[in-house]
Amino acid sequence: MAVRAVRGATTADNNTREDILDAAAETVKEIIDRNGINTEDITDITFTVTKDLTKAFPAAAVRRMGITDVPLLDMAAPFVEGSLEKCIRVIVRFNTEKKNSEIHHVYLKGAKVLRPDITAKETYISVAVDGPAGAGKSSVSKAVAKDLGYVYIDTGAMYRSVALYAIQNGIDCKTDTDKLIKKLDDIRIEIKYEDGAQHIYLNGSDVSKAIREEKVSVGASDVAVIPEVRKKLVSLQQNMAKTANVIMDGRDICSYVLPNAQVKIFLTASVEKRAERRYRELTEKGVSCDFEKIKSDIEYRDKNDSERKTAPLKCAPDAVLLDTSDMTFEQSAEAVKALIKKIGD
Ligand code: DC
Repeated sequence: MAVRAVRGATTADNNTREDILDAAAETVKEIIDRNGINTEDITDITFTVTKDLTKAFPAAAVRRMGITDVPLLDMAAPFVEGSLEKCIRVIVRFNTEKKNSEIHHVYLKGAKVLRPDITAKETYISVAVDGPAGAGKSSVSKAVAKDLGYVYIDTGAMYRSVALYAIQNGIDCKTDTDKLIKKLDDIRIEIKYEDGAQHIYLNGSDVSKAIREEKVSVGASDVAVIPEVRKKLVSLQQNMAKTANVIMDGRDICSYVLPNAQVKIFLTASVEKRAERRYRELTEKGVSCDFEKIKSDIEYRDKNDSERKTAPLKCAPDAVLLDTSDMTFEQSAEAVKALIKKIGD
């Protein structure tokens, strides 16, 4: 066990108590989430604020989050001409087994400019799209990627492939966790592009169709709660984003897989609308299905995906929320493209 420090910085929108506390809370929360910190392991938290933030002590945000027994300190940042305005910086120190190289520092909003190294490395553009099952993430992302010449990466397909492997090998996705973990090294997942379409291969076989079956959908949600499965797939996903401009969709892309993505979107729609879309899609493909079963599967997955401990589904604080309940497919794709076109404005 060692004490390690995580660095965070952000900017407050305005010099108001609420904006200062919101910005401070968001940064501390991201530090905790991205580093999987247990609040009991935090030894102390220090904030600095620039002199233009006078309406609140940011440390009050930590108390408001329910962290009541950690020593806190607020300090004034030195005034340096031309430096970032309305800036809140934070150091969270905590006990951990992690190495320094495994610590994720957090730079939000205007404070991203404090880390030119982060931006400099991002020669490729990453667009992160999260959202619940059936919100249209994959069809919208696929269409936008095709239009803009980006590579579309469907991370759900990877979780589905792990579930399919389990099903094919008589491993129960929900209960045989240890058995599946032992087999993880035997699972080889590859994404290939053939005639412009993405195909997913599981140990050399094209499983693009097989992973779409309803039992695989539910299995995917079950295997996705297993931290070891996530670790393996997240590292694959991060490596893919280093090689091209990508649109990646999933549940934890904005907050965890690509925290430095230039565009972050949370694409959602009501449960009813999502079930309707899925029903229509399957019926059009000639797959016989039951609307109520589809709806209850979606509800099951929503609950499973958002209540799990590791990387739960949620709208990241710096993601744009896009509710497509009342949008057509074309309108949703246009809205996503408009957000991508805003990069660099
Ligand atoms: O997007 P999808 O329906 O193909 O995803 C299948 C399941 O995989 C979903 O219920 C949750 C899980 N998943 C995840 O946990 N994290 C991702 N990045 C993508 C999918």
